[in-house]
Parts: sequence; structure tokens; C-alpha cells
Amino acid sequence: MKNYRKYAAQYFLPEGETLDWVQRDALTEAPVWCSVDLRDGNQALVEPMDVTAKTEFFRLLVELGFREIEIGFPAASGTEFDFVRKLIEEGLIPDDVTVQVLTQAREHIIGRTFEAVRGAKNVIVHVYNSISPAQREQVFHGGREEVKAIAVDGAKRIAELAAGRKENIRFEYSPESFTATEPEFAAEVCNAVLEVWRPTAEKKAVINLPATVETSMPHVFARQVEYMRKHLAFPDAVVLSVHPHNDRGCGVAASEAGLLAGARRVEGTLFGNGERTGNVDLVTLALNLYSQGVDPGLNFENLPYIAARYTFLTGMPIPPRQPYAGELVFAAFSGSHQDAIAKGLRWRRTHDGVWNVPYLPVDPHDIGREYERDVIRINSQSGKGGVGYILENAYSLKLPARLKEAFSRVVKKVSDEGHRELPPAEMYELFLDTYLRNEKYFSLSEVDYRMREGMDAEVLLTDNRTGEIRRLTGHGNGRLDAVANILKAYTGIPFSLNGYEQHALTEGTSAKAITYLSVTADGESCWGAGVHDDSSSASVRALCAALNNLLSRREG
Ligand code: KIV
Ligand code: ZN
Repeated sequence: MKNYRKYAAQYFLPEGETLDWVQRDALTEAPVWCSVDLRDGNQALVEPMDVTAKTEFFRLLVELGFREIEIGFPAASGTEFDFVRKLIEEGLIPDDVTVQVLTQAREHIIGRTFEAVRGAKNVIVHVYNSISPAQREQVFHGGREEVKAIAVDGAKRIAELAAGRKENIRFEYSPESFTATEPEFAAEVCNAVLEVWRPTAEKKAVINLPATVETSMPHVFARQVEYMRKHLAFPDAVVLSVHPHNDRGCGVAASEAGLLAGARRVEGTLFGNGERTGNVDLVTLALNLYSQGVDPGLNFENLPYIAARYTFLTGMPIPPRQPYAGELVFAAFSGSHQDAIAKGLRWRRTHDGVWNVPYLPVDPHDIGREYERDVIRINSQSGKGGVGYILENAYSLKLPARLKEAFSRVVKKVSDEGHRELPPAEMYELFLDTYLRNEKYFSLSEVDYRMREGMDAEVLLTDNRTGEIRRLTGHGNGRLDAVANILKAYTGIPFSLNGYEQHALTEGTSAKAITYLSVTADGESCWGAGVHDDSSSASVRALCAALNNLLSRREG
């Protein structure tokens, strides 16, 4: 990267701040959230949303709990204007929701903005102009006084137009390019605007600090926020807001640091949509709070649905590693992680208290995700813990430890050879094929049992290679032992039974049982499993499956 000398850090570090917020290690309450999806987010889309899509998105935001929503830049286009009118004329804005509209600090644009919001109950008129040295020099060809005058004139026009209106209109000012502006000048411009508006504790003004382009590490942004908190006029009448973008990938961290440093409000978007690398992702911010025991005041209990709605309306995909929402963010493929998660989840069944399951920062169920589908996922990295977890939780199969181990080797082989993940249903089928369904050599039906100093058994055995059916009898100390003796004689293999475990498969009167057992002969063991309404028939089936497996293995 030979051109690195072309660049230099371009932010302004305020002098003499106390960094008092550094001592704080956590946020203890949610900020005021303002969604700018319908403005900043929308203006970043290849195909901006039409009125119908924006209306749907607005409904979604209201459902999620947003009470301040920037609905557009009404003077920017017909669609933007029409959308604002539609929300107002069709009564789609709940009484407790404030709609925010963006305007440049130019007279005719402000005029059109006020036309757009006529009849709305609660409105924030948000005015901005760019004040950084780079913009002053290259774009406006003016000095500090000129850009300050633009802000002040805009503020005056807004105050004039708002006077006497029956809507509840509040004001917001954003010094655009704030992070690349000298802090004392940013404070000077904001204070000049506040001097025009003279906000009160009853009717506060919002001063919104945009990292229009993110230029620094989060703690530098926080120092800039701290500076503004300490230098703004009308401190009790100002809501200090941040509006981070994500150019350095630190939007969430910058927002959190900005909140620690004294901001009380955040503007951002769902999943971080927005210009270039996006605005700050409010889903992540909110769920970060949630995961530390703070009520975020927004509802993401059905995050997969929200993500699907978002993608449908914006056309923007959600990357698989997106915090909380991405397809893979709870997925554990590796055996040791799966094992720890499976144990942690089991532990939680009998223990309350603060969520601390290994590898899961939040309970996936709380945001609408499933353990079986989203967390324990099976591929060639997986081990017995994960395999056992899926079979137990999705299919009620509680495998003996040695069988889990044996089956996880089968799973690993299939997944490794195919270079792919095995979904739960496929793994279940593989289990049935491997341990329940092998009748390659023989199948057996039980005909009769009679107690006689133990048990006499009579069975019909079909040789599946020749089709020959034989009626066979034998004796043992119980049904399974009697059938085992018949099969020892039939196969000529002096096997022994071990690893026997059995459990009910379904609750209630129609319960089925499953038996797992292994047969061992000449140091070689094979597992089988059998399901039946009758528990001893389940065992007989398991025995037949295990023996067929042994014969298959011997044949190679
Ligand atoms: O990023 C930005 O600076 C903005 C302003 C209009 C607030 O979106
Ligand atoms: Zn922005």
C-alpha cells in the first residue's frame, strides 16, 4: 500500500476534556431511538422505496416501538412529499409517534417541508448544513461566518414558519460533518442556532452530532460528544443526539461511547442500512443493551421476521455474520463448542439466574431463533455433543454415550466426504439408515413366546438374500435372550449383547419404546436400534439391526 502518505487522521480532538465517561463501564438505560431508515437508509438504496414500501416500513418501525421516525426529505422528490402526505392524510401516524422530516437550511426547501407536514400531530423539523473546513473551503467557498449564517438563517426561517402552527413542532439541528469540524466551531454554530430557537425544558431542541463520515476511533468521537455536552447553551433544554455512520466499521462502538459521554438519543437504521457503509445498526445497539440486562424499549423478539421484512422492502441482504440477525451468528459447528452449548442448555433446565450459557451472548429463543436450526449445526467439525443434542431435542432420541460417539463418526464421514453441512432431518435419516433399517441379511417376525423355566420363543426368519423363510425356535431367560440364542444358532456367531438402553419415545398411551444395543463378537462391536409399541419387541428389532450391521461389516 505505497500511497499511505496520501492520508492523515482528519478529526479534531477537543482540548482539556475530563474523560469522565471513561470511568463508566456500561449503559444503564436505553437512549431515545430515532429511526432514519426512511430517509438516510432510503437515500442509500439502489432503488429507493416507493410510497407503498415506505408505508409498510413505517408500520414495521411503529410495531417495533420507535416513537421518533425520520420519514423523509419531503422537498427532495415527489415520492418523498407524497409519502409524508399519505401518512398524515390517511391517519397512519399513531398519536404517540413523532415524525421527523429533514430539510436543508434553505428558504424554499424549508417552506416545502412545512407544507408537507401540515396536519401532523407531532413533528420534528430537522435542519442541517455542512460546517467542516473541507466543506467550507471546497464546497461553499466561504469561511466560518458564512456557514454559521446559513445555519442561523435556516433556524430563523423554521422558527418563523412554526410560529402559530397547530402541529406540535420541535426543532433539530445537525452540524453536518461534525466529526471533521473544529469542536469549538461546531459548538459556536449549534449555540447560535439554539439562541434563535431558545428551547425550553418543556419544548426541547435536538442537537444531533453526525459522524457524517466516520473519521476516528470511537473514543475520539466520544470526546467530541463530551465537549459538546459541556459547551452547549440551554443544557436543560437540549436533547443531545448522535448520528454515527460506519465508515471505519465502528458505528456501534462509537454510538455506545457517545452515549457514555453524554448523548441521550441515537439516530440510526435497522441492520445498519445507510449511505456507504451505512448508519449505525440500531438492532445491534438495542440488543447489546438487552444482553446486559437493560430494557432497550424496542421489540426484536421476532428478529427473523423483521429481517425478512427488511430485506423484502429494501432489497438489502443481511450478511450471515451480522450481529444477532445473521444466519450464522449463533451457529456452532465445532465439536467442543457444541458440547459446551449442549451442556450449558441442559444445565439451564435446572438452574435459573443470569443467562451465561457458553458461546451464546443472548438466548437465541428471545429473539425468535431456534437452537436446533440456528445454534447446533452439523458438519465435519462437529462432535458427539452436537449430534446427540440434535437427535435428543429434535427427535427425542437419547443415545447411549458410546453410540453417540459411534454415530458422530458416521456423520463426520458423510459430511466430510460431501464437504457439506447435514441438516437435522438428513442426520436423523442417516441415523435410521445406519442403526434401524439394515435388513440386508435377514428380517424376523416374532410368532410366539411361552414361559417355561425361562422363555421359549418361536420366530419366522426371512433370509433376504434368498427369500427363504424359516420357522425357528429357541430358549432363553427372557424374550430377548431366547431370540438371541436363535440368532446365534442361525448365524453361527457367538455374539454377546451389551450397551443396552431403552426409553419411551412418545408420551401417553400410544407410547413407543426405542432400544439401543450393541452386539460384540471376536472383539468387534456393532450397534442397532429398534422401535416398537412393545418394549421387548423394540429390543428384538434392535438386536436384528445390530446383527445385520455386524454381518455387513464382516462382509466388508
Ligand atoms: O450523516 C449525516 O450527516 C446526515 C445529516 C443530514 C444528519 O445524515
Ligand atoms: Zn447520515
